[in-house]
Amino acid sequence: MKLLTTGINIILSLNLVYGSWIDDENGAVKIDQVEESFIDSIYGDLVQTSESYEYKLKLYNEGKLKVYKEEEYKENDLEFMLNQLLESQEYSTFSEYLESSSSVNYAINSHNAFRKYKSKANYPDDDDTSDLLTIDKFGGILTFGHFKYFNCFNPKSNSKKIDIAIVGAPFDTGVSFRPGARFGPEAIRQASRRGFGRTPVRGNGKPNSKLSKVDPYNTSLSIIDCGNIPMTPYDNRIALNQLYRGERAIHNHEPTISANGSPKIITMGGDHTITLMALKSAYEKYGKVSVLHFDSHIDTWNPKILGGGITNYMSLNHGTFLHYAAENGYLNTSSCMHLGLRAPYISAEYDIKHDHECGFETITARDFDNVGRDEIIERVKERVGNSPVYISVDIDVLDPSNAPGTGTMEVGGWTTRELLSVIDGLEGINLIGADVVEVSPPFDTNSEITSLAATAVIDSFLGLMIVQDL
Ligand SMILES: *[C@@H]1O[C@H](CO)[C@@H](O)[C@H](O)[C@H]1NC(C)=O
Ligand SMILES: *[C@@H]1O[C@H](CO)[C@@H](O)[C@H](O)[C@H]1NC(C)=O
Repeated sequence: MKLLTTGINIILSLNLVYGSWIDDENGAVKIDQVEESFIDSIYGDLVQTSESYEYKLKLYNEGKLKVYKEEEYKENDLEFMLNQLLESQEYSTFSEYLESSSSVNYAINSHNAFRKYKSKANYPDDDDTSDLLTIDKFGGILTFGHFKYFNCFNPKSNSKKIDIAIVGAPFDTGVSFRPGARFGPEAIRQASRRGFGRTPVRGNGKPNSKLSKVDPYNTSLSIIDCGNIPMTPYDNRIALNQLYRGERAIHNHEPTISANGSPKIITMGGDHTITLMALKSAYEKYGKVSVLHFDSHIDTWNPKILGGGITNYMSLNHGTFLHYAAENGYLNTSSCMHLGLRAPYISAEYDIKHDHECGFETITARDFDNVGRDEIIERVKERVGNSPVYISVDIDVLDPSNAPGTGTMEVGGWTTRELLSVIDGLEGINLIGADVVEVSPPFDTNSEITSLAATAVIDSFLGLMIVQDL
């Protein structure tokens, strides 16, 4: 102990270089003989400092590092070993030795030499695949957040339980401007590849927030990526009916938490039209829902104002679906809200009146500056109370600088941080379903920022859904 301390002092005072000798009671020890740790064997003096020597000595002192004595070191040295053999057994050449020694000795000695001189990477056995079973950021088939997959629509899997389902709705023939959202689900999955977990910001950093302790990717719940619902690109009526039946099939699974009655579904759009079918299925399971609609557009447009008028077929689209949701009774018309609105009305006075009839109150994009986040959160919580809530996030609620890959961009929106901060602030609401829509990968940047934002929104949905079951 005392001598080791001396060793440390020597190192500190002389600032010795890699490989220097230290005295201890058992004789000289070479620092580079300490058991390989970290990157010593590869990079050694490239990164060594006097502090790292000191650290190693501390580990050695605590018995956490083995130090090879000179003799042991030499025992592993092929040249030394051969010399010893040649001296002691009087063989004049190595091959003479090989010929005369037993094969066992040869194997042991070869092995020792190999251990000393082999490449520093320790490769597993050629037939060992145990480390290839991991589903990590690059391994396995891609699902959202690397959650498990099974075909949730196949009657053969009806008995499998689902608490939260994530499902893709690849549909974009209800869009009025830029198409491409049919590729949204895959892009969102791709952006989720790196994975998430517990974070310092979930729960908005409030110390007594249950949400701050949630890790959606490590729970006992059954969270399943159901894949995409096949939606035909040839007829919107059939496509939307396929979506409805797909959502319904998922809702018909049992959850592991039976008190919840039915799985909660997170749908990845697709253009915003898809929300109508998600709402229909949710309404059939949970009754009238309070919709929190994060969007730059009202989307309650009367079809007479937007799209419709010539054929009935034209009347259902991504700007009118909330009109139909209200008309068909899916919405609790005393508790719905728009958040982040800023896009122009088409027929201002009528649109505002009709929007109220559909059950919506409005928090505009600029209310973030006018009243602030906490007030927004308070107003939302007060309005929805304990009612079943469905959150629909049109990614165009974000400013185009944060989400350029979308169907109908509007400037002056929230940042990703502001959006996530509002959603996470809703801890405690009864969130039964959610979606994120209008992610159009062909218009995204090549760093996928729009998809990445959508991925984070889903991560926040998961937090809100899971925290209710803790
Ligand atoms: C998952 O949670 C368990 C228990 O809560 C914990 O012991 C474990 O370390 C967690 N795993 C990861 C990867 O965070
Ligand atoms: C609608 O929401 C309000 C506010 O949360 C709630 O009091 C009411 O019971 C809900 N109505 C229905 C039909 O669910």
